[in-house]
Amino acid sequence: MNDQPDRAQFTAMEHGTQADWSLIAGHFGQFAKTLPNRVLTHLRLLDGDYGGFPVDRLEHSLQTATRAHRDGRDEAYVVMALLHDIGDTLGTYNHPEIGAAMLRPFVSEEVHWIANTHGVFQGYYFFHYIGGDRDLREQYRGHPHFEACAEFCEKYDQAAFDPTYDSAPLSFFEPMVGRVFARPIQSLYAKAAAEA
Ligand SMILES: [Fe+2]
Ligand SMILES: [Fe+2]
Repeated sequence: MNDQPDRAQFTAMEHGTQADWSLIAGHFGQFAKTLPNRVLTHLRLLDGDYGGFPVDRLEHSLQTATRAHRDGRDEAYVVMALLHDIGDTLGTYNHPEIGAAMLRPFVSEEVHWIANTHGVFQGYYFFHYIGGDRDLREQYRGHPHFEACAEFCEKYDQAAFDPTYDSAPLSFFEPMVGRVFARPIQSLYAKAAAEA
């Protein structure tokens, strides 16, 4: 039996009590508040990771976000642009879905769709060089967010490999990440976060 005051008392969830879950909800709230820091720490893992590209993946992320910001995009969109490739480290074979899943509670359905599907649309610029079909995105033609995703890739993502571009530093985007990740719009755990 766990008798520490800062720990729930159950050893299996079926024995949980209101006191246990009130305690856990308090911890969840504190943990959720530091989510932006964890996101930024993970994003920094892309520093120095070139993979053969002209810029490393962190610079590509900063450049994508900077281009979106300078083009007048709103904060949630800019944060999506910053994090669209954050899944590269753990989701080597499905990176768009990783970033999109992280963003989903905090952004609109359209911004989430762009993050989740950008890999197929970005392929328009290179799939034909690696034995694939550059028109794979055509499967989504007619989708309400087709043009928005095509525009993200054309204006920001595929254009963000210029080593001479004056990208804003990560510190410029940190307050934006803090604000966007402060409160979930949609989540199973949104109520607990709101009460914390
Ligand atoms: Fe990507
Ligand atoms: Fe990218």
